[in-house]
Amino acid sequence: MSALRSLALLVTLCAVMASSALFERPLPASQPVQPPLSEMALGRLAFEDPLLSQSGLQSCASCHAASAGHAAPNSLAVQPGGVRLERRGLRAAQTLGYLATNGPFHFDAEGKANGGFFWDGRADSLAVQAAGPLLGETEMAHPSPASVAQAIGRTHWADAFKTLYGQRILDNPQAAFERLTQALARYQSDDPAFQSFSSKFDAVLRGQATLTAQEARGLELFNAPDKGNCAECHPSAKQPDGSHPLFTDFSYDTLGVPRNPAIPANSNPAHFDLGLCARPELRQRLDLCGAFKVPTLRNVARRPVYFHNGRFDSLREATLFYVQRDTHPQKWYPRGADGRVKIFDDLPQALHDNVNREPPYDRKRGQMPALSDAQVDDVVAFLHTLTDGWNAP
Ligand code: HEC
Ligand code: HEC
Repeated sequence: MSALRSLALLVTLCAVMASSALFERPLPASQPVQPPLSEMALGRLAFEDPLLSQSGLQSCASCHAASAGHAAPNSLAVQPGGVRLERRGLRAAQTLGYLATNGPFHFDAEGKANGGFFWDGRADSLAVQAAGPLLGETEMAHPSPASVAQAIGRTHWADAFKTLYGQRILDNPQAAFERLTQALARYQSDDPAFQSFSSKFDAVLRGQATLTAQEARGLELFNAPDKGNCAECHPSAKQPDGSHPLFTDFSYDTLGVPRNPAIPANSNPAHFDLGLCARPELRQRLDLCGAFKVPTLRNVARRPVYFHNGRFDSLREATLFYVQRDTHPQKWYPRGADGRVKIFDDLPQALHDNVNREPPYDRKRGQMPALSDAQVDDVVAFLHTLTDGWNAP
């Protein structure tokens, strides 16, 4: 081996070690799992097993850790992935909680985009979605379903998989692949860990707790149409059937989030992530360019980065952005060579009219923001009450 090649190998190895250290990786159990297992229990083992990736280093949980509200457990805007974890993705890992009532992508009675999985809703169900990362070249990077079926055969739960789906199941890679995505979907939709409704705010709705004065002010500002107006897209009220709010209506909007230079693909000035209208079947719908799915705000305080491009790493900054985007654009967007602030710099100029102008985005440069700094603190205090696993003091 030439000196150059061994150096290249060393660099690759270091990169792999460095990136795997970013993940909370459950160690693969050495003992085979005793069948029979339920589909949900099997889905959980699959979700947490790094052997299911082509690199052998990355599980679904690497990018969707319970400790981070099922988003990525590190502050990288986009996660490493690929055969040697040498690639980087294009978008921030989404939170996976509270998706049980999210249906396939559609246009509602008013013609507004709704539902679907991924930031752009392109997968119709959790099972269809799971095929994405398994075969995605910047994620778990399998070249084919057959390669995934082989990976299943190497896991400590292979026998349990066969007991559940048939002893010969791995001989039919396509069927094995589909059963795996079904088990992954079952785990996410049925395990209460993904929708436990166990936050302080849920306790308040059940009459078992009360908000502090600051949290209560935050909730009021979150709801008030002339203040945060957050509930317009992140509903906070009990639903007519008495079920607790999800803090998303699964709709889409273009917020004009600033471009994130930390995403490698953005080093190409001609690259724009256009969200909904980047989907082949929606390419004609220029009005949908820049729109991304509204995420739930449940467990938002646990997520290390925010928005589809992971541009912000603090909840306070994310909230300040809403109320100061138009009043103090110089705080959020870079200046061009001519010294002018380049607003909405993550969208081509011709698409700037798509950007939302409803409150709190109804102010002009230099005006008072819809929320003062202290009021932003109140809203953030309220958002912290949406973290699951709350125990009465
Ligand atoms: C390398 C990091 C990474 C890995 C590994 C990964 N994901 Fe993701 N996940 C993402 C990113 C990034 C998105 C958003 C992608 C997009 O919008 O194009 C996402 C989106 C999702 C969504 C959509 C959520 C929503 O609200 O629509 C689900 C569900 C999901 N992932 C489940 C899984 C499952 C199951 C696995 C394992 C088979 C997995 N992910 C592996 C990074 C990852
Ligand atoms: C017009 C609809 C709309 C309103 C009003 C709105 N949001 Fe959002 N929110 C969205 C959309 C759409 C996204 C995702 C946008 C993206 O990633 O490009 C989002 C994302 C977020 C995120 C990032 C969450 C994550 O997991 O990445 C936070 C935090 C947030 N909103 C808080 C708020 C707060 C606080 C308010 C009120 C001050 C508010 N939102 C008002 C539509 C809205």
